[in-house]
Amino acid sequence: LQSTRLLSSGAKIPLIGLGTYLIEPGKQTEDAVLWALHAGYRHIDTASLYRNEASVGNAIRQSGIPREKIFVTTKLFNNDHGYDKALAACNLSLQKLGLDYIDLYLIHSPKPGPELRAESWKALETLVEQGKVKSIGVSNYGVAHLKELLASNPRIKPAVNQVEIHPWLTRNDIVKYSEEHGIAIEAYSPLSHGRRLQDPTVIKIGEQYNKSAAQVLIRWSLQRGHVVLPKSIHKERIEQNADVYDFELSEEDVKILDHLNDNFVSGWDPTVSK
Ligand code: A2P
Repeated sequence: LQSTRLLSSGAKIPLIGLGTYLIEPGKQTEDAVLWALHAGYRHIDTASLYRNEASVGNAIRQSGIPREKIFVTTKLFNNDHGYDKALAACNLSLQKLGLDYIDLYLIHSPKPGPELRAESWKALETLVEQGKVKSIGVSNYGVAHLKELLASNPRIKPAVNQVEIHPWLTRNDIVKYSEEHGIAIEAYSPLSHGRRLQDPTVIKIGEQYNKSAAQVLIRWSLQRGHVVLPKSIHKERIEQNADVYDFELSEEDVKILDHLNDNFVSGWDPTVSK
């Protein structure tokens, strides 16, 4: 659970993080984050959009775990784009989290368009220079968005691209392009947002290892080299989702899972936006 990957920024990111999208602010978020930290997670992924940054910060402080041992990600949402607005939005996120730096700050989506996302990227570079953010990256970027950003010769290259990935949405083109350019892939909704957990193929593979469908999906993500961000509000599931280091999917099983792809997007899909 403490396994990490080195990012192009030089920072180390824990491979399993707790996703917190749709976890309610207040007790629900505080409980989930505390359970995760007690279970050994050292990586929490939030966003201004989720409205639970303050609760994430509270739980981190309540845990008693030193700040620097925990990797915290938050994101710049669509309505906060532009150079000055992005700086202000990050400061607000820091204030809500109650932290004096963010480990990873992401552009949540390319949706605001080419000019705004380019301006916001410059703001993210400034935030790194100000020491408020350790690493910067993007989310929901398709290959065209990544190409556009790299072609602008940024002072700092994106360290990660966080996209929805699971066996029903393998996104091989985005994965290949990102990895070729030193951009680590973070898989969100690795459990297909809970929608395909009853898939008999996945359940059957799990039975061979005495593991749940969720654990098979998390292991598949890890074995593909992704950082993986399962979400749950239940203590036993949060613990279960981290209990994936005592088995390894065979090459054959990985192949079977790779072939489930049917381009199933569980949420929105900004990777195809202009
Ligand atoms: P809950 O939060 O009620 O536990 P994803 O991370 O792909 O977005 O998936 C999250 C969904 O999967 C949520 O509905 C979550 O429900 C459910 N979930 C998370 N972990 C497990 C698990 N180990 N077993 C079954 N369902 C899970």
